[in-house]
Amino acid sequence: MKRIYISQTLKSTGGSAKVSGWVNSIRSHGKIIFIDIRDITGVLQMVISPSNKDIYEKAKQIRPEWVIEAAGKINERPKNMENPDIETGKVEMSVEELNVLSKAETLPFSIESEGYDISEEIRMKYRYLDLRRERLRRNMIMRQKVIQFIREFLIKEGFIEIETPILTKSTPEGARDFIVPSRLQPGSFYALPQSPQQYKQLLMVSGIEKYFQIARCFRDEDPRGDRQPEFTQLDLEMSFADEEEILKLVENLYINIIKDIFPQKKILQIPFPRISYSEAMKEYNSDKPDLRKNKNKDELAFAFIVDFPMFEWKKEENRWDAVHHPFTRPKTDNIDEIKKNPDKILAYQYDFVLNGFEIGGGSLRSYKPEVLEAVFEVMGHKKKDIHQKFGHMLTAFKYGVPPHGGIAPGIDRFMAILLNEPNIREVIAFSKTGDSRDLMMGAPDIVNDEQLKELKLKITKKKK
Ligand code: AMO
Repeated sequence: MKRIYISQTLKSTGGSAKVSGWVNSIRSHGKIIFIDIRDITGVLQMVISPSNKDIYEKAKQIRPEWVIEAAGKINERPKNMENPDIETGKVEMSVEELNVLSKAETLPFSIESEGYDISEEIRMKYRYLDLRRERLRRNMIMRQKVIQFIREFLIKEGFIEIETPILTKSTPEGARDFIVPSRLQPGSFYALPQSPQQYKQLLMVSGIEKYFQIARCFRDEDPRGDRQPEFTQLDLEMSFADEEEILKLVENLYINIIKDIFPQKKILQIPFPRISYSEAMKEYNSDKPDLRKNKNKDELAFAFIVDFPMFEWKKEENRWDAVHHPFTRPKTDNIDEIKKNPDKILAYQYDFVLNGFEIGGGSLRSYKPEVLEAVFEVMGHKKKDIHQKFGHMLTAFKYGVPPHGGIAPGIDRFMAILLNEPNIREVIAFSKTGDSRDLMMGAPDIVNDEQLKELKLKITKKKK
């Protein structure tokens, strides 16, 4: 008999079926043994009576979390035995065949509860077991639903999904880079992308016009509740689009995600309010204000914060820095003005905000090489450095560059808010700890001397 999913057993009522999965729980009632078996689709009650001695003896040995397969008759449960809490609560299997596929030791923690009370260290070390938990399984499935919706929506809008390199060169997004030593060019390093920013702009020069990617980004900064060293963005870029077109597209996409996948949620205000940066700071003293009225669990207050200043003064470094990133287009293309009064220049920059979190950021880009150069200069880059670091962009822009802009909403933060999770680790399958470790894999780890030699790297030990 071919194995079917537990959710499909309802259709087999009155007939036979074979299922496989994990032992969720075991109970005895008089002489009868009840085993709840769990697969990705749900839980099914199996009944084993002493009348079939072989199976009964086997069933007595079985322990929670063993992997088993079982076949038998799918019967309607007696009316008073129905379980309305589970999809298959009206049926049960009277077991006629039972095999143990693998045994399991007692798990290091319970997977029955939501798990918030269990130490995160241990949950992360055994993350593959933690993911058996119903709450996390649901989080993974909902995340996939949202990503699939985004893909279908954008492809219908004419967007093309393109993968961009992970081994690349530094792109400034304001964080430290993760770097990877090159074996073939010893002494040189790749940087992992803080975002696909430059690639997506170069794709606009290629004439792709509407690009998107569910993109992994890497930033070496201290993790916290809404920050991970690697995270996922819906990265998108459009040619010939103005700010209005980009914001409308995002607004429309997010309204539809909520309608389709989270119909119980209430969006406070449509269209999403647009608030200028200066107004937000004046009114809420924050560039990501929480606009919810009641802060109940299903209320969603989206907003766009617009008209950010182009530059901010970095006291520690004694220089101007771009508030977003240097590719952002200032609201003026008067080069003298940009260089003379950097503090007065506003930018075509927008943040996407939800319930007090920044869930996205984007901008129109400087596509005139002289404006881009002026911005780099204000930021304190020497002409020589500009060409060493960003020459490829300036060169590309000499060959016919369309006006373009884009945005990158973070997927992890959005999912954490929608799923009412306290942090983004709960919506990422294999997330890292507060000190950026993967406790399950034991990463980061040392490498052997052979590898170091090949890379021509030497580790200098700290003197005690
Ligand atoms: P920005 O740096 O604002 O823009 O990032 C966009 C969004 O990505 C999410 N995000 C993070 N999520 C989890 N952990 C992190 N460490 C982390 N850092 C950022 C946030 C944020 O709003 N290239 C530009 C986008 C563009 O201009 O098109 C960029 O990356 O939700």
